[in-house]
Amino acid sequence: MTIKTRFTELFGVEHPIVQGGMQWVGRAELVSAVANAGALGFITALTQPTPDDLRREIETTTTIGAYLGERLVGAARLTLDGETGWISRVAVAPDQQGAGIGSGLLEAVEAAAPAEVTRFRLGAGHKSSANIAMYERRGYQELSRSIDTAGIELVIMGKDR
Ligand SMILES: CC(C)(COP(=O)(O)OP(=O)(O)OC[C@H]1O[C@@H](n2cnc3c(N)ncnc32)[C@H](O)[C@@H]1OP(=O)(O)O)[C@@H](O)C(=O)NCCC(=O)NCCS
Repeated sequence: MTIKTRFTELFGVEHPIVQGGMQWVGRAELVSAVANAGALGFITALTQPTPDDLRREIETTTTIGAYLGERLVGAARLTLDGETGWISRVAVAPDQQGAGIGSGLLEAVEAAAPAEVTRFRLGAGHKSSANIAMYERRGYQELSRSIDTAGIELVIMGKDR
């Protein structure tokens, strides 16, 4: 069930739920997971010892949205792990697929990576052959396989910048 309130409209979130600060817990990974679940999360500023550490924490995860007017029609996420940029949650609204939005999001998250990122990684379900072919056409190659938390076999793909 979807609950629409002034809060969901104002912040563009799916659910009227806020993840409070929670020092030592409200880090980028949690905030990113909360955002992906459709709620609003906050990084806690005093968890990090210095303003530079806080800036790095904020920059760890970037999510880029694609909009048609005010409608969010696609998104992709970049998470930094040293020199590696992990791309995830690439998704386009079903009625907007096949129009170049997914390709644009992939290019945009790659371009958003800071200079220290020298390689990109992503995971695709092993049965998602159309997606795997799409990534191959954009320079990604299979590197390994792994099982995700839902028990799905993932093809881990990568390319150098
Ligand atoms: C995968 C996805 C993000 C692609 O976004 P999109 O906006 O439809 O993609 P684009 O229009 O930019 O097309 C990218 C390529 O995929 C192809 N493609 C798009 N939709 C396709 C489909 N349903 N079946 C087969 N190929 C398709 C396009 O022809 C294009 O081919 P190209 O490499 O020759 O240019 C989108 O289909 C989606 O959200 N799927 C569901 C979620 C998902 O699977 N996410 C990826 C997780 S790894």
